[in-house]
Amino acid sequence: MRRPLVAANWKMNGTLGTARSLADAVVTARREAGGAQVLLCPPFAHLTEVARSVAGSRVALGAQDVAQWAQGAYTGEVSAAMLRDAGCTHTIVGHSERRRYCAESDEVVAAKLVAARREGLVPIACVGETLAERESGDTAAVVTRQLQALLEVLDAPALAEVVIAYEPLWAIGTGRTATPQQANEVHATLRALVRARFGAAAESLRILYGGSVTAANAAGLCAEADVDGGLVGGASLDAAQFLEICRAADEAAVRG
Ligand code: PGA
Repeated sequence: MRRPLVAANWKMNGTLGTARSLADAVVTARREAGGAQVLLCPPFAHLTEVARSVAGSRVALGAQDVAQWAQGAYTGEVSAAMLRDAGCTHTIVGHSERRRYCAESDEVVAAKLVAARREGLVPIACVGETLAERESGDTAAVVTRQLQALLEVLDAPALAEVVIAYEPLWAIGTGRTATPQQANEVHATLRALVRARFGAAAESLRILYGGSVTAANAAGLCAEADVDGGLVGGASLDAAQFLEICRAADEAAVRG
């Protein structure tokens, strides 16, 4: 059985103060074990502050990005070892905003996934199509291309230590969520690709949905067989709403 994961992607929002109070609220509410794993991904500058809040708790810490290089003269970059030192256990890689604004290619995203794993971090690797690609019927082709680049650098045992997030670009920050059926269809396509390459180990791979997940639609999404939790942007900046999404994932965990 795959344990659901709910990851908060705070993006470039907040101050040290709001990061601390948001993290404290999540930590306090998650004192009692829920079925889902909960992860907070603050901006780099707030990692150590949030690390203090989550220390000794059931809430995990992750970064939003990681350098593809291990160390050296790469001004502005943050290495996987630095993230681990700061208390991270996870990192997002290949978010569509980085692919778009920072021109990250499939190959760069794969290199980041390798860099994260080398330091023992669990990468959450994002794939997803644009609205134009969906409307021209290219969704499966686009996510297949993105996933294949990642599968090139993985093996079967690694699948339990890697997370994929399906985030259709037309759903990110737009309030327009994929329906549970649309999400599950793509998730099933992704898992079938992994199964074709690595066999039964594909069942251990967690595939999150991201894109306008809210307290109102989380339960429906989490009820789908191939949806193993969510990567939550906007709604993760509101503690009450984020915690409700976590509870929806807890219930999916109980149902199994
Ligand atoms: P959103 O962002 O929930 O605000 O749509 C999700 C994401 O980009 O990870």
